[in-house]
Amino acid sequence: MRNKLFFLVILFLITISCEQKTGISGLSKGTSINKRVEHLLKKMTLDEKIGQLNQYTSRWEMTGPAPENSDSMFMYNMIKKGQLGSMLNVVGANAARKVQTWAVDSSRLGIPLILGYDVIHGLKTMFPIPLAEAASWDPQVAYTSSRIAAEEASASGINWTFAPMLDIARDARWGRIMEGSGEDPYLGSKMAVARVEGFQGDNLASENTIAACAKHFAAYGFVEAGREYNTVDISEYTLQNIVLPPFKAAVNAGVATVMNAFNTLNGTPATMNIHLQRDLLKGDWNFKGFVVSDWASINELILHGVAANKKEAARLAITAGSDMDMEGNVYIEELKNLVENNEVDETLIDDAVRRVLRVKFELGLFDDPFKYCNPKREKEVVFSSKNLAASRNVARKSIVLLKNSEGLLPLSKTGKKIAVIGELAKSKDVPLGSWRGKAIPNSAVSLLEGIENVVGTQNVTFAKGPVYIKNKRGFTTELEINTTDRTGMKDAVSVASKANVVVMALGEDCFQTGEGRSQTNIALKGFQLELLKKVFEVNKNVVVVLMNGRPIQINWMAEHVPAILETWFLGSQSGNAIADVLFGDYNPAGKLPVTFPRAVGQEPLYYNHLNTGRADKTDMVFWSHYTDESNAPLFPFGYGLSYTTFHYSNLKLSSKELLPNGKLTITATIENTGERTGEEVVQLYVRDLVGSISRPVKELKGFQKIKLKAGEKKEVTFELSAKDLQFFGAENRWKTEPGEYRIWVGTNSAEGLESGFTLK
Ligand code: BGC
Repeated sequence: MRNKLFFLVILFLITISCEQKTGISGLSKGTSINKRVEHLLKKMTLDEKIGQLNQYTSRWEMTGPAPENSDSMFMYNMIKKGQLGSMLNVVGANAARKVQTWAVDSSRLGIPLILGYDVIHGLKTMFPIPLAEAASWDPQVAYTSSRIAAEEASASGINWTFAPMLDIARDARWGRIMEGSGEDPYLGSKMAVARVEGFQGDNLASENTIAACAKHFAAYGFVEAGREYNTVDISEYTLQNIVLPPFKAAVNAGVATVMNAFNTLNGTPATMNIHLQRDLLKGDWNFKGFVVSDWASINELILHGVAANKKEAARLAITAGSDMDMEGNVYIEELKNLVENNEVDETLIDDAVRRVLRVKFELGLFDDPFKYCNPKREKEVVFSSKNLAASRNVARKSIVLLKNSEGLLPLSKTGKKIAVIGELAKSKDVPLGSWRGKAIPNSAVSLLEGIENVVGTQNVTFAKGPVYIKNKRGFTTELEINTTDRTGMKDAVSVASKANVVVMALGEDCFQTGEGRSQTNIALKGFQLELLKKVFEVNKNVVVVLMNGRPIQINWMAEHVPAILETWFLGSQSGNAIADVLFGDYNPAGKLPVTFPRAVGQEPLYYNHLNTGRADKTDMVFWSHYTDESNAPLFPFGYGLSYTTFHYSNLKLSSKELLPNGKLTITATIENTGERTGEEVVQLYVRDLVGSISRPVKELKGFQKIKLKAGEKKEVTFELSAKDLQFFGAENRWKTEPGEYRIWVGTNSAEGLESGFTLK
């Protein structure tokens, strides 16, 4: 008997110690995640469940309006009571360890926090802004930068990034256009998958991978008039065919989380949108991860006029499938009462909690809550020379050569006097871009430094020209652009007049784009155009290096200046990457992921538009046009030059007919007709000529980046099946329609060899 008692006590002790060792779930690592989730869920009180759905920013960094409670004791108490499931903006291995220790050691169930941060284009090693990376038309580029961003973030306590942003954007006025992959759903989907795979790797539980977050679900890029947070009113047709494909692709690639959006969509805010979150995302697409609200977007339901108070807002959001409340304090304050008064079914809470816990289990947080909190790894990995080298490579692949008449580029490395002009040329900060994570201020290689690294300082003279941004930058409401002080103009013109060639940096300050930075005017601001014109008067050999996060209006420049490089904001190695291109060590191959307009009044301007009934009656006034500007873009989607030239020929289709279950093979020969090795992005477009509803004049259906030596030829092959021609039609379903199709293989969306086929 005594032995038996002794045995039972030992068994009890072993069970307790196992429970501690195997993590808080009480079930060991080998058990399926679903079982572990259910086991844990059973132990949780309603308060603890709701706690898992609550997320606060650290009080030491904010990326939205400041919260009321600003002390860390408050935070500690919330965590201790199990009332906080996640934090954002806690960065650094030590900071993360601190809050994670609170969660694991002080709360009843010891459930670890999931720690999110906006790692958009790098943590400390900055990569090009996402729009720039999309200009590479090379998913491997986006994969590499996301992979390294994840390595740096995961070494710095972060296990969840609020990226990639998958909002298709057709309007250059919208400041967040810099954060996505541009205007096209096909290119956007390829980049989406690459980024999700880069952040999440093969295994979310590895110590160097983090959960990704596809945002903003959905249609945030379609805000009216490009004004931030504005109304979105688009058809189901546009939603399904244009907006959603990158999200669907990300879900298919296994994205762990999704963030909803601030905007209303056809009257219903995304945050309470059952159609988006329940029917599509969690229904048709079978998304198993969780949805986080955008910053206080649940509270904003009140301002949208769809909820009278926080209680209603909470009910609407949880019913619609918004699982976690970012910084809103709505779920934590309201959900319990709602459940107790039978206004919200507890099964809804359970579903949301299951989703959050599942991602935490998948990250391996229950098995080792501190795996992302290793200061040694942080020191080794973050901002390493290896990462900087990768950033330079990604950066040069993101550059688009917009013009190069008279073969001004590449520049000779010797014997020429170079004038480097413009404030942006010397800036070590602007190239870091907006949404810059933990970038060290002024840590980028400036354009001037990049040039001097190649040719030395002897033949290089810098002149700043008039100051562009006066003083306010960053999280201020307005940029103070200098419009009165011309100091520096004369000096810059004089420096330009003495040089053989002028390299001029023009464009935007990086904080002209990003969240909250919509603009009605996308022309060069301040005295930039005047400076350019004056410089051009004294020296015609001008190379403009553009730095900007949106398409900008550059008509005069495009007409007069012989060479223009679009460099966006390229990150830490900006100057070196640009110099690689300027001096021909790298032959540019980027292509525009967005249309460049001639005037802001053309916006939204995009290549895959519908035809009008009055598209070509150009001999009278009654056709679809502007009376003061052409309809045509300045530079079309997919446009970009190289230092060599490519000739397209021999477009062949395997058949004139495509059968419903068949495949069509399309081939074309591309020849490098210039004198250098170069890369070309070969693009495939189609048009469905007669549909049950009007179909776009062109749609991108494939692209390939090929490298050809001077004189070399290659046959490029694409395949199309009926599935690739599917669209979401008026009957509210995806379908293909038999009929005639046109097809183009070309160098951009406006040029190409043309043929046609019939879909049977
Ligand atoms: C942005 C999100 C971001 C969040 C957290 C919001 O204002 O819209 O994209 O992830 O803040 O910083």
